[in-house]
Amino acid sequence: MESGTAKQYIYIVQAALEPSKCKIGKTINLERRLSEYNNMTGKSKENVYRYLFTCEVNSMTDVEDDIKRKYSHLREEKNREIFFYNSALFEEYVKFIKTHKAFVQEIFIKADAPKPTVKIVKKTTPSLEERGVTQKDIMQKAKRVNNDEFYTRYEDVEKELSMYDKDIWKDKVVFCNCDDAVDDEFDKRRTSVFPLYFLLNFENFELKKLICTHYNGVVDLFNQGLRAYVFTKYGFGEIDISKAYHKNYTGSFDDPLSLKILNEEADIVCTNPPFSIAIEYWDVIIKSGKKFIIISNITNAINTAFIPYFRDNQVWAGYNEVDWFLNQKRELTRAAGHWYTNIPVKDRPKHKLLKIIPLQEIPAKHKRYDDNKTLLVTNCYIPSDYKKPFAVSARPILNGLLEKGYKIIQDKRYTPYIKGKECFAKVLVQKI
Ligand SMILES: C[S@@+](CC[C@H](N)C(=O)[O-])C[C@H]1O[C@@H](n2cnc3c(N)ncnc32)[C@H](O)[C@@H]1O
Repeated sequence: MESGTAKQYIYIVQAALEPSKCKIGKTINLERRLSEYNNMTGKSKENVYRYLFTCEVNSMTDVEDDIKRKYSHLREEKNREIFFYNSALFEEYVKFIKTHKAFVQEIFIKADAPKPTVKIVKKTTPSLEERGVTQKDIMQKAKRVNNDEFYTRYEDVEKELSMYDKDIWKDKVVFCNCDDAVDDEFDKRRTSVFPLYFLLNFENFELKKLICTHYNGVVDLFNQGLRAYVFTKYGFGEIDISKAYHKNYTGSFDDPLSLKILNEEADIVCTNPPFSIAIEYWDVIIKSGKKFIIISNITNAINTAFIPYFRDNQVWAGYNEVDWFLNQKRELTRAAGHWYTNIPVKDRPKHKLLKIIPLQEIPAKHKRYDDNKTLLVTNCYIPSDYKKPFAVSARPILNGLLEKGYKIIQDKRYTPYIKGKECFAKVLVQKI
């Protein structure tokens, strides 16, 4: 018998010393329940429990059962009473409870920490041509600006990943392998948006497993040290990296443990790898034969290290550019990124940006011949009736040119010269 006529409550409670965990439960007496938590034997004095949220419901058993079902992946594997906590997940739990049909009224919710304001600090333009600088200038600048330690923004991950068929995730193991920390704070940047996105969509996507690893580099972007988490519908747990096999584990994507997860467990890899080691990263991921959706530099399609992957159809552009990231001070900073994948992109919206028309009709300022008499086209103009190779920038490749009856015909970048002067790097393509 649940409660007779007594009021029924659902609560979220947290212990001061366990910020990445909370307990979600039901009771008919909130005060008594809290004192039970605080008088638990074996509990240290400092580990004080406090409510984060309490509300009245008209069937606490229904609400609790539904929470357990929906968030089974967020319940600790060993102690099923404990749920994974961070501020974004807390908002999700509260939203679920407040929209449950048994919800009656909120009683208490912890005050929101003030949201940090995001400043814009740097501005660069997204492509070489639009920047009006040469490849050499960019390489020099890239050496000065450390693009590796940027946080991806949640909205960029959501915008891209929500565009793929939901079915791609069903029963799949997702591996986030480039410093994809999860912890108690989302706003304070202790949680990467990649695992967060999958945790919030775990049930909806019918995921089998989420594995996320933190990287223990010189800069610890998430202040986490070495950790690796696994989430399944049976709960969450940490990989015990202190075990002999993992003794020298670094959290690097090419560490033996990470490679073992990649090769033996993962179905889909999803992350934002450091731009500076993209060559090594792409090599490992593409050789693994696994599916991936990752962020990389917008110019990869005209970079010799990556051109063969595009030419051989081992990778293509995802849907969106990623122009904005957050730096370590949580300031908005612009860098030229794009999503890349080997998962089908349906009805690519950017096809419409390609202007495939007879050569004759391409405006003169967008078709020129270089010192080798090779045709260079710009501004996404593509000749529909030109049989010889011609050179394009990365942009038409990102807009899906290779899906429109054209192929890349060289395995390296094409550097055109006009009257002896070096022009923007390109790639040679030809109509099939
Ligand atoms: C662009 S940041 C992305 C961080 C996080 N995944 C996100 O999307 O917000 C790239 C991260 O990869 C980390 N990293 C650097 N070398 C790495 C390696 N060999 N293996 C895995 N991660 C690495 C960097 O320290 C940095 O935190």
